[in-house]
Amino acid sequence: MPATILVGAQWGDEGKGRVADWLASESDVVARFAGGDNAGHTVYVGKTVFKLHLIPSGILHERVTCILGGGTVINPVNLLREIDELRGLGIEVTPERLIVSTRAHIISPAHIALDKASEQALGAEKIGTTLRGIGPAYIDKTGRSGLRMGQMLDVETFAEALYAQIEAANVKLARDGCETIDPQKSAEAYVDAAARLRPYLRDTTQYINDRLSAGDRILCEGAQGTMLDLDHGDYPFVTSSSPTSGGALTGLGFGPLHVDRVVGVTKAFSTRVGSGPLPTELSGELGDRLRGTGANFWDEFGTTTGRPRRCGWLDTVMLRYAVQVNGFSEMVLTKLDVLSGFDELFIATAYQLDDKIIDFLPVTTAEQRRVKPIYDQVAGWQEEISAISRWDDLPEAAKKYIDRIAELCATPVNTVSVGPERDQLVHRQGDHHIDGA
Ligand code: IMP
Repeated sequence: MPATILVGAQWGDEGKGRVADWLASESDVVARFAGGDNAGHTVYVGKTVFKLHLIPSGILHERVTCILGGGTVINPVNLLREIDELRGLGIEVTPERLIVSTRAHIISPAHIALDKASEQALGAEKIGTTLRGIGPAYIDKTGRSGLRMGQMLDVETFAEALYAQIEAANVKLARDGCETIDPQKSAEAYVDAAARLRPYLRDTTQYINDRLSAGDRILCEGAQGTMLDLDHGDYPFVTSSSPTSGGALTGLGFGPLHVDRVVGVTKAFSTRVGSGPLPTELSGELGDRLRGTGANFWDEFGTTTGRPRRCGWLDTVMLRYAVQVNGFSEMVLTKLDVLSGFDELFIATAYQLDDKIIDFLPVTTAEQRRVKPIYDQVAGWQEEISAISRWDDLPEAAKKYIDRIAELCATPVNTVSVGPERDQLVHRQGDHHIDGA
């Protein structure tokens, strides 16, 4: 049986967690392939809110095995905290249900300190990272000096290597006038974590390929989003991994012919946390309206950092680019309910760049900052839609909005979300509806 790849089509925070939760109900294995605990996936099950950072949303489905693949970067202490939190909420997290790749790289306290130092040094030009040590961990990986999770299997050499890594970071930190780290204390915490995590460690490439050969269905759960991709996003305002569909193959280690479905998740509008261009950004009252009031869960504040998200109209120039980069077979549109009550809605279909009209995303940040979106104006709807469960019951204007997006992106949109709960996903008639486990 083939694999499904689920990725964010925009700047992250598209609501992938709840879509992954839906698709996990028809999967046997759910695997994260890139990034680390910079991600924040929120899943609402009844009155319980699960905030996941590293562990795939599939963990909420009893029969699913979850994987943290070789392309991820893992803070062992934070992983253990997340395991404990999930257990506290009644979720069984055992080495049978969660398998961590021996190839995944370790985020050490050195990486976190270096992330902070680098952001400080950039000042007003900072990336706006989540300060989880992601960039420096991937720098060590590509510089071939990183530590991999498999090294935790040999405590003595692991402790020595970690100690050396922290001492090397301390030299840089001291040189830049930043606070240094106590290598002894950090190494102790990580050695303790290693002892607990050892049973979870395994060769996940072999495991996934065995499961694929056995006919099992794999869901590759993306984190972040297309515009945060190291290669394809708006560099340098990106994360340091490959959250696009190609990253699923390198991050997990299986071949492209297994993939039969690539699902792109986009909000019904645009949001971004951190710095970097957001061509359709709205300031003032309209931006506040999309962001929400701060009174409920469903608002636009980052799950990992709690920072307010910048908001704007939907940008199909950028989405078409995401379709190209990822090869979406379909898109899911989330948070459609947030658009209720607008008299009119705007969809960016092209940009004006200086004296030219373009229908593609320019490559450089400078150009992306200069573009002025050209909008299609479409009718809004007044009805509250969060209780709607059938596609036919959506207001005509909402259906037209969805269909216009599908047309502009030349990609089907068969699923929308109208609220944060599991059952607030609405599927186009004739499309397959699977209830959460
Ligand atoms: P880093 O991944 O912490 O290095 O942050 C790099 C950029 O990616 C910053 O703009 C972050 O705000 C953004 N970012 C990283 N992870 C996420 C996410 O899960 N959702 C939204 N933005 C993210």
